[in-house]
Amino acid sequence: MSKTISIIIPTYNERDNVIPLVERIHHALHSYEYEAVFIDDNSGDGTAEVARALSARYPVKVIVRQNKRGLASAVVDGLRHATGQIVGVIDADLQHPPEVIPDLLREIESGADIVIASRYVKEGGCQGWGLIRRIISKGAIVLAHLLLPSSRPVKDPMSGFFMFNRQVITHANLKPTGYKILLEILMEGEFQGVAEVPYTFRTRSRGESKLNARQQIDYLKHIYSLMQRKGELRRFLKFCAVGLSGVLVNMGLLWLLTEMVGFPYLVSAAFSIETSVISNFVLNDYFTFPDRRLPKAKSFLNRLLKFNLVSLAGLAINMGILWLFTEAFGIYYLLSNLCGIAAATLWNYLVNTWWTWK
Ligand code: GDD
Ligand code: MN
Repeated sequence: MSKTISIIIPTYNERDNVIPLVERIHHALHSYEYEAVFIDDNSGDGTAEVARALSARYPVKVIVRQNKRGLASAVVDGLRHATGQIVGVIDADLQHPPEVIPDLLREIESGADIVIASRYVKEGGCQGWGLIRRIISKGAIVLAHLLLPSSRPVKDPMSGFFMFNRQVITHANLKPTGYKILLEILMEGEFQGVAEVPYTFRTRSRGESKLNARQQIDYLKHIYSLMQRKGELRRFLKFCAVGLSGVLVNMGLLWLLTEMVGFPYLVSAAFSIETSVISNFVLNDYFTFPDRRLPKAKSFLNRLLKFNLVSLAGLAINMGILWLFTEAFGIYYLLSNLCGIAAATLWNYLVNTWWTWK
C-alpha cells in the first residue's frame, strides 16, 4: 500500500488562487490517498471560506489561526494537523506549479528523505526576475551556505516548495522566524538523502506577495538563531579567542626577539607574525574546526598553506583599512585599527570556513 500524503498550504489573502490550486493538486494526486491542509491566518478576503466550500468535493482541511501571522510558523502549525506519512509544502499563489508534486513524490519513493523543488539546479529557474531580485535571492543562499555549513550541499535551501518523510521531523523542535521553513527543517530534522528537482518559479497572476523588508530582517534573525542552536556561533567565538591568543604570541615574541635576542624590530616582526599565524592555525585546527579536520598529514600542510594565504590577505585588509580610515577619513588611528581588525577577522573567518576547513 502506498503512503498517505499531506500537502500543507499556508495562506494569507489568496482567495482567487484557492480553487485553481486545489483542482491542480487534485489532478496531480488523485490516484493517491492525500489531504490538502490550509493554514490561513484569518485572511480578510474570505480565503478560508472558499477553501472550506471545496471540502465537499476534495480532501481539504482548513485551519484558521486567529491571532498569529507568519509563513513558516503557519507551516509548523500545519504539521500538527497533517496526518500523512509524507508531507509536502507548497505556496497557494501558484508560483509553485502543483504539476511538479509527482516529480517530488517519485524522489521520495526512490529513497530520498527530503526532496526540494529547486530553482538552482540545472533546468530550474525563475520566471521574469530582474537582476536585483536574483542577486538578493542568491545572496540569501550564499549567507546560509557561509554561516550554516551543513546547508551547503543544498542548492536551494530557501525554497518554499518541498516534500519529506514525516519521520524527518519527529524529534525536531522547529522554531523558525519568518519565511524559511525548509532551512529550519534542513538544520533541525533527521534525514539521510536530500534530492533536488528542477522547477520554474512562476510569476504571480492573482493576489499580492507578502514578502517585504520585515521578512528580510526575520531571515537574518533566523540565521542567527540557527547559528546559535547549531554551535556555529560558538565556533565563531572560538575563532575570535584563538585570534586574540595570536595577538599575545605576536606581541610577546616581538618583544622577546627584539629585546632579548637583539634582532631589528622589523625582522622580529616578520618572525612573530608567522609564528602567530602558525599557532592560530594549529589551535583552530584542533579547537575550532575539529569536525572538519581531515586525518591525512598531507591535508594538514595543505590547510596550513591555505590558512597562511588567507591570513596574509587579512593582514592586507587590516592595514588597508587602517590607512584609509586614518588618512582619508581623519579617524584616530587606534580606532581605525580596531575597524581593520574587525574586517580582517570577518574575512579570515568566512574564507577559512569556506576554503580551509570546508
Ligand atoms: N498563513 C500564512 N501567514 N500564510 C502566509 C503568510 C502569513 O503570514 N505570509 C505569506 N503566506 C503565504 C501566502 O499566502 C502564499 O501562499 C505563500 O505563503 C507565499 O507567500 P508570498 O508572499 O507569495 O511569498 P513569495 O512568493 O515572495 O516567496 C515564496 O517563494 C519563494 C521561492 O520558493 C516563499 O515560499 C519563499 O519562502 C520562497 O523562497
Ligand atoms: Mn508568492
